[in-house]
Amino acid sequence: GPVTQWLAGMPKAELHLHIDGSLRAPRLLQLAAKHGVSLPYSSVEEVEAAYNFSDLQSFLDLYYLGASVLRDADDFYLLMKDYLEVCRVQNIVHCEIMVEPQTYLPQGVDLGVVLEGFDRAIAEAKSGWGQSVGLILSFLRHLPEAECLEMLTAADPYRAHFCAIGLASAERDFPPANFQTLYREAAKRGYALTAHAGEEGPPSFIHDALQLLSVARIDHGVRAIEDEYLLNQLAADRLPLTVCPLSNVRLCVYDDMSQHRILDLLDRGLCVTVNSDDPAYFGGDLLENFAALETDLSMSKEQALLLVRNSFEAAFLQNEEKNLLE
Ligand code: ADE
Ligand code: ZN
Repeated sequence: GPVTQWLAGMPKAELHLHIDGSLRAPRLLQLAAKHGVSLPYSSVEEVEAAYNFSDLQSFLDLYYLGASVLRDADDFYLLMKDYLEVCRVQNIVHCEIMVEPQTYLPQGVDLGVVLEGFDRAIAEAKSGWGQSVGLILSFLRHLPEAECLEMLTAADPYRAHFCAIGLASAERDFPPANFQTLYREAAKRGYALTAHAGEEGPPSFIHDALQLLSVARIDHGVRAIEDEYLLNQLAADRLPLTVCPLSNVRLCVYDDMSQHRILDLLDRGLCVTVNSDDPAYFGGDLLENFAALETDLSMSKEQALLLVRNSFEAAFLQNEEKNLLE
């Protein structure tokens, strides 16, 4: 529609993107063949037919299976290059990308190999078209906190590669309260702090991420809509939510896009942003997420502009850097 067309040409930021979630079917099949990894699919059509989820866990099972084809620095280079190419095409001038090194440990892949590949692609995009990139060191909450702390320590030699830490994977049985030492240790090291909360988990998990982990941003957070007191606090503090509309519908957080409350959150004064989460799995990049809001929620031009402005306000950048990009 016209609002999405207008947004296409506007500089935007994307703050909630799992790099493994950007691994598209053709690249997935290519790398599986390269490394002799056997997958339950043999064509792009079969892959896409399998991406029919009933909840977060049913997605995570296929997401970790997909990521298991990533083995060497060239694989990570191609993965990052593919996503940064989307940024160039969609005018996403700044992106903050979640990297989850614990995902690669079962395959014996070291963080140094991962970052060698990512660095090459990021350097090309920076010199190629001035792409701005931040990396978020994201931990898997279905694993014990002790293993997350080991990874935090293993990442110390690479501290300068990351702007923040995050917390992802299965939410319901793994509350923020379990990760207080991890967040305290990360804060000591000077990382900015964000965490997934209030996607499938209750609004109390958003409250606890703020109170117990001291996060500066919440990933998803859509279930804040159920708690009036929390909504007022998030609005008063301009505490950003990185919302992912297509993801929420594909993972059955909402029955369909017409049920999504993102524009209600925006109209109540919250600093909400639009993001794609795992675009290879949920059927759209950033602009397709905006397009769904225009089609199904009648997003106005004014609302679209606020959402884009919020994405820069919420970025883990210095104010001078934001002014240069916007
Ligand atoms: N990892 C990748 N995508 C995720 C999501 N939507 N929620 C939690 N963990 C994730
Ligand atoms: Zn996510």
